[in-house]
Amino acid sequence: MSKFKRTLITTALPYANGPIHIGHLAGVYVPADIYARYLRLKNEDVLLIGGSDEHGVPITLKAKNEGITPQDVVDKFHGIIKKSFEDFGISFDVYSRTSAKIHHETASEIFKKLYDTNKFIEKTSEQYYDEENKQFLADRYITGTCPKCGFEKAYGDQCESCGTSLSPTELINPTSMISGNQPVLKETKHWYLPLDKYEPWLKEWILEGHKEWKPNVYGQCKSWIDSGLQPRAVTRDLSWGVPVPIEGAENKVLYVWFDAPIGYISATKELTPDWEKYWKDPETRILHFIGKDNIVFHCIIFPIILKAEGTYNLPENVPANEFLNLENDKISTSRNWAVWLHEYLEDFPGKEDVLKYVLTANAPETKDNDFTWKDFQARNNNELVAILGNFVNRALVLTQKYYDGVVPEHGELTDYDKKTLSDISKIKAEVEKSMDSFRIRESLKNAMDLARLGNKYLADEEPWKVVKTDTERVKTIMNISLQIAANLTICLEPFLPFSMNTLRGFLNLEKMDWVKLGETELLKAGHKTNKPELLFEKIEDSVIEAQLQKLQDTKKANELTEVVAVPAKENIEFDDFSKMDIRVGTVLEAEKVTKTKRLLKLKIDTGIDQRTVVSGIAEYYKPEDLIGKQVSILVNLAPKTLRGIESQGMILCAENADGSLSIVEPDKKVKNGTEVK
Ligand code: MF3
Ligand code: ZN
Repeated sequence: MSKFKRTLITTALPYANGPIHIGHLAGVYVPADIYARYLRLKNEDVLLIGGSDEHGVPITLKAKNEGITPQDVVDKFHGIIKKSFEDFGISFDVYSRTSAKIHHETASEIFKKLYDTNKFIEKTSEQYYDEENKQFLADRYITGTCPKCGFEKAYGDQCESCGTSLSPTELINPTSMISGNQPVLKETKHWYLPLDKYEPWLKEWILEGHKEWKPNVYGQCKSWIDSGLQPRAVTRDLSWGVPVPIEGAENKVLYVWFDAPIGYISATKELTPDWEKYWKDPETRILHFIGKDNIVFHCIIFPIILKAEGTYNLPENVPANEFLNLENDKISTSRNWAVWLHEYLEDFPGKEDVLKYVLTANAPETKDNDFTWKDFQARNNNELVAILGNFVNRALVLTQKYYDGVVPEHGELTDYDKKTLSDISKIKAEVEKSMDSFRIRESLKNAMDLARLGNKYLADEEPWKVVKTDTERVKTIMNISLQIAANLTICLEPFLPFSMNTLRGFLNLEKMDWVKLGETELLKAGHKTNKPELLFEKIEDSVIEAQLQKLQDTKKANELTEVVAVPAKENIEFDDFSKMDIRVGTVLEAEKVTKTKRLLKLKIDTGIDQRTVVSGIAEYYKPEDLIGKQVSILVNLAPKTLRGIESQGMILCAENADGSLSIVEPDKKVKNGTEVK
């Protein structure tokens, strides 16, 4: 670790508007925890910092929807998050939160210092304002029609239908989500950090100075810098957040991405009066563990804030991960598509390490990866149980059986014995090499090679057979197997801390430092080991099926709520309804309208006549599948010409939330021309 004496590891502060899921864990907390445990085992001075990110608009929106205060929201989730991390064994030295007083003070001070030293530009611009509620509207508080795709419920910052980023003034028919009124434009003053001014410095510091950063991180930084940086507002018109600590800034708070990373500093302050050593001494190395959506904030914006402040260290590395999907679908808090940590801990008591193992073995380090329950089961059964568990169990059980648990003295070593022992040191070097370059997934594989080595050694030497002919030789085999088991407690400690603690109990060993890894006499002859139990147990199909069922239920529930979510229209009288003449008809012919993606030309027997209808269902139905199908058709809709074809009526469809269409057909076959009423 050369020029550094200590390491400060930060983990992205999760938003306190939902619990922790496996995506958070695989991307940030599991690798950071492994790395911190590894350094601690090497007796290095290291801090692992975490906390909840409790500001930002989504939290205020959630509070509003639930009729509670933002503080209620964050209190609830901070509690759940903190406890689940503890139970799971993420070894934070401190887990703080950004609504804490110490954080408000720290963030305020840094803002004030930047303000006092003229690091900001002040700018007045027009923003949407809700006159009824007398407040400016955050982008997320405004909905309207997307100018690109026509989706009517686009947000002020993004259209969730077509994915375009928007600014609120681009929306057609903007509506305030608070009052339902049309907002007006009104002038407001904000403070901007001129990111563009730091471009030359960023080029030097990152593009020249940190070529060793992971390609995904370096690449994103380069593309941000190359496409030109813009001044960015660091204040917002909101009431939830850290108040802007200057005069004339009433009802304004710091932008959540300004205050949140400062949370790392506040948390360190909360932990130790010696905090400056970790933030300002150039002999400290700062590492930010984050997911890929946080790269720009941690590599560009936060460093600029710190650089402008002038007394802080900058990160030495930012080992950001890509995303983890779940069963081939994006993890989503709002759609409840996730494996939630607190639920996992309840459903799989004592199996914290299994999840850590699977998330590391399948970590999204270089590309997005998929978590599947089948893979979870397979890795548990085929790797943890069949390789690691099986090896240590055989070594310990045979020791009980042959020597009443006492480690036997070894005799003369064969070449194979010697090679096996020297391979342990090789494995140590490999684990270190991958770990030191943040290839944690690879380092787990390297560490598991030690268990594979042990397993193979026992399988090759077959002490259970040799015992019948050469009891002296068996002593050596068992001694070596036990030394491998003892080495495993060091090698796998960063990855599987609960299980290695258990294994040390079986071996009757104290926790040992990393330097001891590779030693061949960790267990002295005559040392008494304990009766072992199984280190890992097989996970049955029924357990996996239950989890898959849970996900299926979520899918179903989502489909239902998505439909209910569209509010009912205004009441009408029966007379209004009865103006519509809806009949059941049968499709006689169907063909695609040339040069269109969406349109089908249908000929329909309505019982009254045969007529042509043009319908926008081509993306959901093949013409040949429609022929003979009964449909509901609005027959007295004024004809309309589409692509040169006169459409005489409209086929009724149910529209899913994603815009896909499903034809409404009668439950039983009826005569064509039957009225729908
Ligand atoms: N809450 C943010 C997210 O979940 C991460 C904040 S990281 C911090 O994406 F550095 F700003 F704290
Ligand atoms: Zn759109």
